[in-house]
Amino acid sequence: MNILTDLVHAGHWDEDPTGTSSLPVFRGSTFSQKDLGGHSRWDYGRSGNPTRAGLEEAIAKLEGGVAGYAFASGIAAVNSVLMMFQTGDHIVVGEDIYGGSFRTLTTIFARWGLGVTWVDASDLEQVEKAIVPATKAVFVETPSNPLLRICDLRGIARIAHAHGLLAIVDNTFQTPLLQRPLDLGFHVSVHSGTKFLGGHSDVVAGLVAVSDAAVGKRLYAVQNGFGAILGPDDSWMVLRGIRTLAARLEAQQRNAARLAGWLAARQEVSAVHYPGMKSHPGHDLHASQTSGPGAVLSFDLGSEAAALAFLQAVKIPLTAVSLGGIETILSWPCRMSHASMPRSERLKRGIGDGLVRLSAGLESVEDLEADFAQALSGG
Ligand SMILES: Cc1ncc(COP(=O)(O)O)c(C=O)c1O
Repeated sequence: MNILTDLVHAGHWDEDPTGTSSLPVFRGSTFSQKDLGGHSRWDYGRSGNPTRAGLEEAIAKLEGGVAGYAFASGIAAVNSVLMMFQTGDHIVVGEDIYGGSFRTLTTIFARWGLGVTWVDASDLEQVEKAIVPATKAVFVETPSNPLLRICDLRGIARIAHAHGLLAIVDNTFQTPLLQRPLDLGFHVSVHSGTKFLGGHSDVVAGLVAVSDAAVGKRLYAVQNGFGAILGPDDSWMVLRGIRTLAARLEAQQRNAARLAGWLAARQEVSAVHYPGMKSHPGHDLHASQTSGPGAVLSFDLGSEAAALAFLQAVKIPLTAVSLGGIETILSWPCRMSHASMPRSERLKRGIGDGLVRLSAGLESVEDLEADFAQALSGG
């Protein structure tokens, strides 16, 4: 089926005796096991829940994987994936991944002895050179956050396969509607379901799809053993969001493309990072591995003072951490998503104090342009 059909029918319940149009929320924490010693499909809410399973099956299908897993947040999903490794293992990680993933790798997992080499993942030579005998995985994000840099998914998967490594990608920005990394050779695709999949800034969730049953078994052992599961109500909320993903994301992508062009024409803006623009260094590569540029971009206002003045003067967007909601969201990486990164490290990675990230919403794009114009002109 076309993914548009799969999206709309996400969460279809095969065991449904009622014909309901919406998978019920099963709140029970435990399940009757009258068949003692038998093999009940459901036994305990942490180990499995029918509503969560509906969502897990949906993400597996949408990503073209063999299994899916739902977690309490996107970062719980990232951490659960990382918990498949052990002390002494080493992973190669793209240096401009989500700030929260950077934090957990440099604090919790560093304490536990998981080695990391940070690389510019857009440079395949750097990725390959960073591999040592203890390396078990490559972990990247494309487009990256917040600079929208592009890495070559096929090339990274090829390197991972050649060295017997797991290829892991954070696919939050693109969603399976626009980018299907498992089709390109990746083993694990991670999402913050809080973003486009949930889509309405009203639920926190994480999802993972895997292309390999053995990897799925390892991840299930972490999900069940560590227990950072997504609850049934939140699972239902994400399923509800997924069903309208295409309509939302396609319209948001149109607004993003138009705003990118509009911002690039303003003298107050020193740079616009959007893979849909021909001038973006990763434009052609991105187009070769996705079906759309997405609805997130970032732009540079040159200084902390200019970014602060703009963010205080805009009226329509939400100025907040997060992205992928139906409302336009502006965030300030240096004070928000990347605040935990030392400034020198941040600047080294090109994330300046004047950089603003924009997640385009569903508002009238003319209204947004008028609002941005007044904010750039001093409010
Ligand atoms: C790319 C990316 N990955 C992971 C996360 C973490 O997700 P959550 O906030 O749902 O824990 C985020 C959150 O902003 C993100 O942007």
